[in-house]
Amino acid sequence: MLSKKMEKAFNDQIKWEYFSAYLYLSLSAYFQGLGLPGFANWMDVQFQEEQFHARKMFDYVLEKGGKVQLQGFDAPQHTWKSPLAAFEFALKHEYVVTKRINDLVDLAQKEKDHASAIFLQWYVTEQVEEEANFGDTVNKLKLVGDGGGLFMLDRELATRVFTPPAAA
Ligand code: FEO
Repeated sequence: MLSKKMEKAFNDQIKWEYFSAYLYLSLSAYFQGLGLPGFANWMDVQFQEEQFHARKMFDYVLEKGGKVQLQGFDAPQHTWKSPLAAFEFALKHEYVVTKRINDLVDLAQKEKDHASAIFLQWYVTEQVEEEANFGDTVNKLKLVGDGGGLFMLDRELATRVFTPPAAA
């Protein structure tokens, strides 16, 4: 079973993961509107990743006999001043998610909930990859600027596909 504190914290994080999905769908629409379908594809894949993160946690709460209570959230931002500003915004969002996951691990340890602490290790590792993925594109955007390099990068980002993690 889950303590009430853990159950609430997991429900809050499920909301954050679904909000992240919604934010990246908003970013996908933004990039599509700019005529950058590769960037839009990359964000579409991220939209799927976030739904996977949320659902994995949702299933865990139920498996532990907890109650899932879905929460509402505010509309995500829908416009940015440039592709670089959009990716920097997303990277900052991921830093917040990382902090939230770390706080969840701290809570699991405080509650002596070893199963949840182990479960959350997957998210700790996943956040390393998330920050690296966003950070890599921020760096590339800084290098290419606003010129033709943007279209080359768009072609590269068009190749990203969603692959559900095998061992998840
Ligand atoms: Fe679910 Fe991008 O963190």
